[in-house]
Amino acid sequence: MKVGEKIRNVPVQRIVDGDVQQIDLAQYSSGKTIILVAVPGAFTPTCSDAHVPGYLTSVEAFWEKGVDEIVILAANDFFVVKNWEDQLKPDKHVQFMADGSQAFAKAADLALDLTEIGLGVRSQRYAAVIRDSRVQHIAIEPDATVVTTSGAQDILQNI
Ligand code: BEZ
Repeated sequence: MKVGEKIRNVPVQRIVDGDVQQIDLAQYSSGKTIILVAVPGAFTPTCSDAHVPGYLTSVEAFWEKGVDEIVILAANDFFVVKNWEDQLKPDKHVQFMADGSQAFAKAADLALDLTEIGLGVRSQRYAAVIRDSRVQHIAIEPDATVVTTSGAQDILQNI
């Protein structure tokens, strides 16, 4: 995934009212400004304690900058991601989605192999500003266990 590129039309999933929906993020972000926050896993310490909460406490600043939605994309199955969403209770404009087979991460060339530590193939930790389906800015963490440039405050400076 690179600046200027259209994001890939590989389906990700979410559960709404008990139904599993397949979402094409390229179509979903058409005509909108979306912040895509991809994490290696729901419930991991960095994701639950630092990365995602940083966005949840800054939602107003994103809406003031014209962002339509924040999409948290976790490299887990949709049952796990729904449970995580229910625990974090986000604003209604923060959508939690699942990349359970890492199809989106692989298509974007952002898969992360954590097999050696027992987590299998996941996603790199990154955040991207997507305008009308195209990548305007992307920050990929060199160490997926740490939040630096993909955190909410840095991304707010790049909208
Ligand atoms: C985390 O805390 O987010 C994390 C832990 C191990 C591997 C990847 C991420």
